[in-house]
Amino acid sequence: MRAYSLFLSTLLIFIASNVSAAEDKNVELLASSCAACHGTRGHSVGGLPSLAGMDRLHIIEQMTQFSNGERPSTVMKHHASGYSANEIELLADFFSKQ
Ligand code: HEC
Repeated sequence: MRAYSLFLSTLLIFIASNVSAAEDKNVELLASSCAACHGTRGHSVGGLPSLAGMDRLHIIEQMTQFSNGERPSTVMKHHASGYSANEIELLADFFSKQ
């Protein structure tokens, strides 16, 4: 019985860590579409702002305002509109932690 519950909890930990690994992969994929302009993992080498280390809430606000047109933009309306609120949060988490 004890071995069985040990097995179960090991299995649960295994599943949980795989789920978060899948989420990490997913957000890296999302973030890679920002790299062309904002640099790899948000480390910009051109004239555009670096997203790396940017405040999480600031990113969410800007993305929302680009998407609803509150903040005028050249290309960001187009980019921001393609993501769900959840994806924007994942991106903001990712870039703010770089
Ligand atoms: C084609 C180039 C391009 C791509 C790709 C791109 N951006 Fe941008 N980004 C810009 C430009 C240019 C601006 C300045 C606003 C404008 O003119 O659209 C900007 C501004 C921003 C800002 C505001 C920064 C600030 O503090 O004012 C954020 C946040 C941002 N981008 C996030 C992203 C995210 C997240 C992605 C990927 C989902 C992304 N961008 C993809 C070109 C790009």
